[in-house]
Amino acid sequence: MKPQAVEAIIPAAGRGERLNSKVPKPLVRIDSKPILAYCLEALAGNKSISRIVIAVSEENREAFNAALRKFRLLKRVSLVSGGESRQESVAHCLGELGRDTGFVLIHDAARPFLSGRLVADCLKEARISGAVVCGLPARATMKRVESGWVKETLKREDIWEIQTPQVFRKDMLLKAYAKFKNISATDDASLVERLGVKVKVIKGSYYNIKITTPEDLVFAKAIAKQADV
Ligand code: CTP
Ligand code: MG
Repeated sequence: MKPQAVEAIIPAAGRGERLNSKVPKPLVRIDSKPILAYCLEALAGNKSISRIVIAVSEENREAFNAALRKFRLLKRVSLVSGGESRQESVAHCLGELGRDTGFVLIHDAARPFLSGRLVADCLKEARISGAVVCGLPARATMKRVESGWVKETLKREDIWEIQTPQVFRKDMLLKAYAKFKNISATDDASLVERLGVKVKVIKGSYYNIKITTPEDLVFAKAIAKQADV
């Protein structure tokens, strides 16, 4: 049987409020390249991904187009308008998926250091389990804190920090997004979990950081210098 087609979604329509930069966060440069270009190269390099749908805010559409042209990343890429939340932006992208698509990979534009290896590992696992996220076991001691007071120390072995990419069978992802429109979620798996679907976790990468605040750019510059990201 022919393996089912894969499309990728990149939510890139956020305001980047915590980074507080003049240009949209995915277009902020690390060395000479925009954040978005790094992860897009990893996705474009995977031959089984037939198309990459990127959610951008309407006011920045031209800036994104120009950056994609400049870095020769327009191949197999479509831009759609984002929404008010990440979830809405992803929902808009879901509406653009092709009929033959069997699996959807979602990756945040805010995570530049996505490796081709991690993309391939996620896709391979998705074909086995149907739903996969990557993540890493927590390294710090984790406590639940309420109003400045410790409520509980969590069992660290059970705590994982979840990243993107996340890959799902298209039918289950569409179902989760349709059914839980009114529940706000910061990742896609949390909606799929609500369907009662078991989500597999595979090991991500410590380089696969999310750029959130200006401090993250300090780490990003160092990571960009590593050859083995
Ligand atoms: N995102 C999106 N549409 C939104 C909000 C977020 O596509 N309405 C995307 C962001 O562009 C980012 C990803 O979702 O790639 C994760 O969001 P986050 O890191 O929070 O980025 P921002 O929302 O841009 O940043 P902030 O929350 O600081 O404003
Ligand atoms: Mg945000």
